[in-house]
Amino acid sequence: MNETYHNLLISYDQGTCLITIAREKKLNALNKDTLNELHQALVSAFKDDAVKGILLTGQGQKAFVAGADISEFADFNEEEGRDLAREGHNKVFNLIHESSKPIVAAINGFALGGGLELALACHIRIAATGAKMGLPEVSLGLIPGYGGTQRLTHLVGRGRALEMILSGDMIDAEKALSIGLVNEVVSAEALLSKAQEMLARMYSRSPKALAAAIRAVNASVTPEGYEVEIDEFSGLFGTGEFVEGVSAFLEKRKPNF
Ligand code: COA
Repeated sequence: MNETYHNLLISYDQGTCLITIAREKKLNALNKDTLNELHQALVSAFKDDAVKGILLTGQGQKAFVAGADISEFADFNEEEGRDLAREGHNKVFNLIHESSKPIVAAINGFALGGGLELALACHIRIAATGAKMGLPEVSLGLIPGYGGTQRLTHLVGRGRALEMILSGDMIDAEKALSIGLVNEVVSAEALLSKAQEMLARMYSRSPKALAAAIRAVNASVTPEGYEVEIDEFSGLFGTGEFVEGVSAFLEKRKPNF
């Protein structure tokens, strides 16, 4: 890993690549450079066999990510707006959603607009007690453009998604937990260790099965979901990890994947 990043901090711990979005003075807002660096960092982590999972968080106590950088798109026209959204989807948000390694968002403060959409693209979300989440785009005369209208709806249902999107209001971590927007709420101090603990459980499982499970679950929003499940399930029978997993069970020992 020799890349130099100006807007990210990268560290490695027990199989996890921790990516910290580091524009603290701008509440970690996602400008173009940060999105490009995120793309780069994700691709590097995907390629690195020592990385088994990814943890995304924001620098400082105040924000996970306070949204896309408003100052960068203030004078955009329709075409530029379309390019902004499409590039974001392709380079970062879909890349996270479709990652075959598990990605957890550790929401340490404000997760607004594109920041909440970033967390929504992750496979799991853990929030610190003081975190605040919302999709305030309608207050800017916009709607979410990095997948928020789709992923929030799939996660919490149409009524709750529309309530958040149409009101533009923020909700707190407890409310987010109660509607299934986040998986867990823990103290700010425990946030990263809880996320790492969750990832470590996954690392003890078959990596090929984790990747297949992510693909099958992601397909649940397409008409082919059940077929994808059958294909992914059957495909695993041909893997050494399946042989190891079943042998370990029968031999009453832990599998070594
Ligand atoms: N884009 C660009 N800059 C942003 C930003 C964003 N989404 N969110 C925060 N910032 C910048 C502020 O402009 C400010 O910069 P400055 O110090 O150079 O003036 C800095 O981050 C600190 O933010 P500030 O607004 O002063 O903090 P606050 O505590 O008063 O308010 C928020 C915090 C999160 C409520 C407020 O920053 C906010 O509403 N941000 C925009 C959220 C949003 O609409 N996101 C969706 C974008 S699509």
